[in-house]
Amino acid sequence: MIIGVIGAGTMGNGIAEAAAHVGKVILVDVDQKRADQGLQAISKRLNRQTEKGRIDTAERDEILSRITACADLQSLEEVQIVVEAASEDLGVKQDIFTALARICSEDCILATNTSALSITAIAAGVTRPDRVIGLHFFNPVTVMKLVELVQTPFTSPECAAWSKDFVESLGKTAVCVEESPGFVVNRLLIPMINEAVFLLAEGAASAEDIDTAMRLGANHPMGPLALADLVGLDICLAIMETLYGEMGDPKFRPAPLLRKMVRAGHLGRKTKKGFFDYH
Ligand code: CAA
Repeated sequence: MIIGVIGAGTMGNGIAEAAAHVGKVILVDVDQKRADQGLQAISKRLNRQTEKGRIDTAERDEILSRITACADLQSLEEVQIVVEAASEDLGVKQDIFTALARICSEDCILATNTSALSITAIAAGVTRPDRVIGLHFFNPVTVMKLVELVQTPFTSPECAAWSKDFVESLGKTAVCVEESPGFVVNRLLIPMINEAVFLLAEGAASAEDIDTAMRLGANHPMGPLALADLVGLDICLAIMETLYGEMGDPKFRPAPLLRKMVRAGHLGRKTKKGFFDYH
């Protein structure tokens, strides 16, 4: 099998690594430098696995050799599935899907990893929208076992069944979701993070204590503010904006402190500063 992945950022390179266990992967980004950076991140993770004795150097080299990083969408001509993990911008994704519909074969599955944008709106502009589906992975991709399989009104049962088998071949569990704002996980998780930001802004507790409370009081592996830093505050805000815009319910209004931090460029781990400091 040949799998295409678009976007070599955190999610895209994680998906490419997971996919390289079951086939050849073509990882595409807008330029060669970004594509190579994605490959380097994969190589670094695989080296850690080798150091820990989980895989040997031959396995590491074999997995790496299955991934090609490039900047040419045309290279996806012969893939069986493309998973798009480009930036969270509807226009960008629609352009990519229009191009993919032209480049890829008629029965190639076209999947998006969007965390909150409308997959129906992406599919609507594509010839044969029945092969468009959401495959929503979680960060860190190589650790998290879930993939939300998000169906639009166009998605065919064959596309859904093939995609479910594909997800399971990666060692992950698929849950089926009819498209709905934020799907299941982000509809529940991101408002919780947003509420933690309100608590912080109100001075109810420190960032450390809010996180400790949820780690020890609700057995979450990490607190909501540390999780916001991991996901990216810009992504959290974009998801809240989508929930608020789509549902029109004030319970989804983004916390002003979240907006302020995004405007300041304090986006979490990726900028080394968010609710916590990573310098
Ligand atoms: N990238 C890749 N791997 C990572 C990682 C990262 N950023 N952080 C940790 N890991 C790996 C470690 O290498 C380690 O792997 P091994 O067991 O193979 O050695 C494993 O995860 C456990 O790591 P640690 O022992 O260092 O730390 P931990 O036990 O605290 O686990 C965690 C770290 C897995 C991130 C855990 O805290 C956790 O599960 N947190 C919650 C993550 C979560 O909720 N993710 C979903 C976010 S929402 C989303 O992604 C959807 C969206 O659309 C926004």
